[in-house]
Amino acid sequence: MNKTITIEVLRYRREQDKTPVWQAYEIPYKDDLSILEALNYIKDNLDSSLSYRWSCRMAVCGSCGMMINDTPKLACETFLRDYYPDNIRIEALKNFDIERDLVVDIEPFMEKFQKIQPYVINAMTGKKEKIKENAEIDHGNSGKTPAEIAAMSSKQTPAELVKFKQYTMCINCLLCYAACPQMGLNPKFLGPAALSMAQRYNKDTRDSGKAQRFEVMNEKEGVWPCTFVGYCSKVCPKSVDPAGAIQQAKLEGTMSMGFKGINILPLPKSVKDKVNKFNQFKQPEKTEA
Ligand code: SF4
Ligand code: FES
Repeated sequence: MNKTITIEVLRYRREQDKTPVWQAYEIPYKDDLSILEALNYIKDNLDSSLSYRWSCRMAVCGSCGMMINDTPKLACETFLRDYYPDNIRIEALKNFDIERDLVVDIEPFMEKFQKIQPYVINAMTGKKEKIKENAEIDHGNSGKTPAEIAAMSSKQTPAELVKFKQYTMCINCLLCYAACPQMGLNPKFLGPAALSMAQRYNKDTRDSGKAQRFEVMNEKEGVWPCTFVGYCSKVCPKSVDPAGAIQQAKLEGTMSMGFKGINILPLPKSVKDKVNKFNQFKQPEKTEA
């Protein structure tokens, strides 16, 4: 007899459901079928009205995040064999409003993400001598070759890159927001992905926007609501460790406040050494859930 497995999906269709309702689908079981492929099977063969997001099918685009048996996971890299023969329960990501079925409203996240200015702010702006140098370059009076000019703003050593490289791996899948207990209590909290992305740029030697970002990060809804539960780092499919990034930011933010408001000032060597030591603290290996 052919094997089957039951998938229960929490459905929400505004036009007919006052509150979300569970709907069960029985589908043919295969060892190598992912949850995403199972949902595609349901949509193609059993119920075309089922809604969910996906694109790459290879844990790159970040769009297929959902709660699978109450754990935030990417549907494309989670397999039926991990649950068979039990039923599988699938819901929209926690801590987000549901648009329809498994599709959540990511607009509040996009607003938070923009707040932290997730791009390199030119290291040539903001400093008097750099502005002068920049103006000379603009007017062709610097006497520098194009290669020298390019090197001035973009040269980076492997050691400098390693300080922020892990944060560049974020795919904005938002599993960390669904895992974060603070997000459930305080929806205004900037949250793990936005804050670790802020650190990605703060630690980039080509960037000079750290002080601007810390104005947002040091606010009430910035790094401070985080209580370091650490579940965000555990569920992250890209080993980004947003929890570690937030603790580093708390330390840097506290020390910068201690010297002058929220400005990031040059720190005494002894303090700098402590920050560096903390930043180099190696996180324990990620264990499978
Ligand atoms: S930090 Fe990890 S879990 Fe959070 S959005 Fe980025 S990739 Fe996803
Ligand atoms: S479909 Fe792109 S991450 Fe799953």
